[in-house]
Amino acid sequence: MLITIEGIDGTGKSTLIRFLNENLKDIAPVITREPGSTWIGEQVRRGIAEEIDPVAEALLFTADHAAHIRDVIRPALSAGRLVISDRYSDSRYAYQSVTLDSILPDALGWLEAVHHGWTILPDRTYLLTIPVDEAMSRLSNNRDGTEHFEKAEILSRVQKNYLAAAEKDPERFVIIDAMLEKEKIGNYVADSIRQFVKR
Ligand code: TYD
Repeated sequence: MLITIEGIDGTGKSTLIRFLNENLKDIAPVITREPGSTWIGEQVRRGIAEEIDPVAEALLFTADHAAHIRDVIRPALSAGRLVISDRYSDSRYAYQSVTLDSILPDALGWLEAVHHGWTILPDRTYLLTIPVDEAMSRLSNNRDGTEHFEKAEILSRVQKNYLAAAEKDPERFVIIDAMLEKEKIGNYVADSIRQFVKR
């Protein structure tokens, strides 16, 4: 079973993943992430830092996804493990639809087509949502430099894309209010995952 955690920068995904790692030990999930579960992830980070061409960047993220599926996700699923991924294909659909918007007439359609035929669809996706100004203030408190996605105008469009995806596929998505207390979010998602796995 494949579960993904999505949301714009500043929603507290990393905190949630740490919580799940601690609290789901009994069901021993394989916890993984995009970008960066393979060496291609390092090239993706370099691409982000250097603000390379948006098409090249989108394809690097997708290359990392392909390697992630072959090297981590497929083997874990074949072994009957529960996989939880911090970001996955919905990150591309939400972020790269924005970065490619001025280049391609139908960026989302192009991104979906690039994934088609080989990607593995998540069984469930938890989407953390937050007012964009709160995300921006968390980001500026948290770290030294900001990545080029971390601008209010971009994150607001990215979050709209995420919500549109959730609206299209309400069976798969669970929307979480990231303004709630960390512990509360963690317990809710952990319980929900347990129930989903039992089903
Ligand atoms: P991530 O590693 O989750 O962020 P952080 O550095 O906060 O841990 O992701 C790095 C950035 O890449 C983040 O701004 C989201 C963006 N991203 C995309 O634009 N497309 C993608 O497909 C993925 C996986 C991430």
